[in-house]
Amino acid sequence: ALERTLSIVKPDAVAKNVIGEIYSRFEKAGLKIVAAKMKHLSRAEAEGFYAVHRERPFFNALVEFMSSGPVTIQALEGEDAIAKNRELMGATNPKEAAAGTIRADFADSIDANAVHGSDAAETAAQEIAYFFEPNEIFSR
Ligand code: CMP
Repeated sequence: ALERTLSIVKPDAVAKNVIGEIYSRFEKAGLKIVAAKMKHLSRAEAEGFYAVHRERPFFNALVEFMSSGPVTIQALEGEDAIAKNRELMGATNPKEAAAGTIRADFADSIDANAVHGSDAAETAAQEIAYFFEPNEIFSR
């Protein structure tokens, strides 16, 4: 099905100057960037975005890292965009990520793991709405 998913290029990947390489992987896989912005998340914005993880032991480190520097936030659109993006990203822990995936190629640790991508249709819709107004999404 035609889907949209929310993608974040995290502070580690922005600092490594690989935004374009990551965008290029999305495009080569047939995913269209239909919304995009660069933003330095506040602690509160990072906490709100990751609210589902608030009881997890890694929550504080995650929020600290995600608000440590600028990120790019994009909505990707395409056939099976959610699963396709997750395939491109590879496993959450870069040590377990398959060769050739974004995390295998660019990530250093489970916290600094280069990218975020929505895990299901419902969270994709919520996450896109968290960062984008409807008139900031340019579907074709
Ligand atoms: P992300 O897809 O952005 O969603 C939550 C993030 O928490 C995840 O990527 C990781 O960067 C980070 N994280 C840190 N430790 C863990 C863990 N043990 N399990 C899952 N996610 C973790």
